[in-house]
Amino acid sequence: MEYIARTVPVVLLLIAMAVTAYQSQTRALQEEGSSAQDTAQTDTVSFAKDVLPIIQKECLPCHAAENFNRSELSLDSYELLMRGGRHGDAVLPGKADESPLVQKLRPDPPFGDRMPLDMRKKKGRKPGVKPLTEEEIELIATWIAQGARDN
Ligand code: HEC
Repeated sequence: MEYIARTVPVVLLLIAMAVTAYQSQTRALQEEGSSAQDTAQTDTVSFAKDVLPIIQKECLPCHAAENFNRSELSLDSYELLMRGGRHGDAVLPGKADESPLVQKLRPDPPFGDRMPLDMRKKKGRKPGVKPLTEEEIELIATWIAQGARDN
């Protein structure tokens, strides 16, 4: 009897310690999870810093407002991009997969050729295509999915 009276408190104490340890561990894991979520949310694609440099390098040779282009799409600035081209809006904010700007960068666009056309391969025949990298296309798609803001 005396043995049990001495053991029970010790066992209870051990259980209490185990429960406390378990709780603090789950709390730490939860905090870890929510901070990972925070970084994913703040990973905003910037038009000026991320999207425009790609456009300037790969698209402006043909899509500058001062040059004639039968697509009628000028890509010099956010305002001109959002004005769209011959087929209407190039960017549908929030709908990357339905935006011609993204569709034209992926294989088999719904109209015309895949962009960017490669001028060097032109030489009188059908122009070739020099695709952007998967990362560049996804960056532009993410910018549109995030609302296509002038950020
Ligand atoms: C060598 C010239 C050339 C380059 C470089 C080029 N384009 Fe084009 N683009 C054209 C021509 C020509 C058309 C019209 C024919 C067609 O739709 O295939 C066009 C059409 C488009 C259209 C369809 C607009 C509409 O409403 O009809 C989009 C969107 C587009 N280009 C986006 C881009 C993007 C984005 C880039 C850069 C990554 C790019 N283009 C680079 C020549 C070019």
